[in-house]
Amino acid sequence: MAKPRRGLAVRAALVASGLVAGACTSDAPAITRPAGPGAARINTLWWLMFAISAAVIVVIGVMVLLSIRAARRRTLAVRDGEERWQKRLVVIGGVVFPVVVLTTLWVLVLQDMRALSAPPGRRLTVDVVGHQWWWEVRYPGQHIVTANEVHIPAGQPVEIRLTTEDVLHSFWVPQLTGKTDLIAGKVNHMTVEADHPGVYRGQCAEFCGLQHALMIFYVVAQSPSDFRTWISNESRSESTPSSGLVAEGRQAFLASACSACHAVQGVNEPLPPGSGLSRFGIPPPSTAVYAPDLTHFGSRVSIGAGAVPNNRGNLAGWVIDSQSIKPGNYMPPIQLDPKDLQALIAYLESLK
Ligand code: CUA
Repeated sequence: MAKPRRGLAVRAALVASGLVAGACTSDAPAITRPAGPGAARINTLWWLMFAISAAVIVVIGVMVLLSIRAARRRTLAVRDGEERWQKRLVVIGGVVFPVVVLTTLWVLVLQDMRALSAPPGRRLTVDVVGHQWWWEVRYPGQHIVTANEVHIPAGQPVEIRLTTEDVLHSFWVPQLTGKTDLIAGKVNHMTVEADHPGVYRGQCAEFCGLQHALMIFYVVAQSPSDFRTWISNESRSESTPSSGLVAEGRQAFLASACSACHAVQGVNEPLPPGSGLSRFGIPPPSTAVYAPDLTHFGSRVSIGAGAVPNNRGNLAGWVIDSQSIKPGNYMPPIQLDPKDLQALIAYLESLK
């Protein structure tokens, strides 16, 4: 009878140590390491709140200790003139001080909220659509559809328009700015800006089902010239391979179940000119939009919205049985003979 309990305890210890290790990982995003003006504001406010809370705890702690000591020495009996002083202490400490502190914080929070929600002016706009459990990313007017990666130019405010295809999600890049919810039938706006080029990890911050925790994305901030290069590369459709393993992989992609849900621009989903707002009122151009667009899949950081790094081994594992990597995701196991699988992997990794 003791065995399952011990097993449970071991598992709990493993989970706890995993959480601690995760929290200590240096690449874990933290609001206390801001990399953009929005996060810098939040960070300042956070430290101010922390300092005030810590000071209040210290003062209260000291008062509790003093009163315990006084009680032990039986000096609690009220002497002449002390009562008035005690009443004042209660009024100042219990009413005046909290009102002043909370009002000051409230004004500062309102100021920050106003600054954070201010529109960035007419610059770059990116549309992000939440799905269980991945992010569709579109660049309106630029013929670009990608997934789980938002590329932006560093040093410039970028407007992000957010909506969802299914349930509530929340877009959060702790090092860049605060959270904004993705609500069905509504478009929310937020501004994101990174001070310097870098890859900033984002996380869905609203519980949205089984794989909420593996609904990760990356904001890739690039120098303006690198960003322009990325844009011009992403606007290209796939260049058709004429022969070899990659061409066989393309055939395997079209012949298998993959192409029923995933699109590769120019292969099974020609993107009409001027589109990019299909999820914002205009119907999508084809049916192959139920899963991440794969047009430039080979250049992406991760597979399965941050589930595993993007490499050949992980990709093969994902195609054969993504359920073992990200249980509950909507991709069924794909049955392919080894030769076709090898060709398919070569094709997908060639899409850069
Ligand atoms: Cu999407 Cu949590």
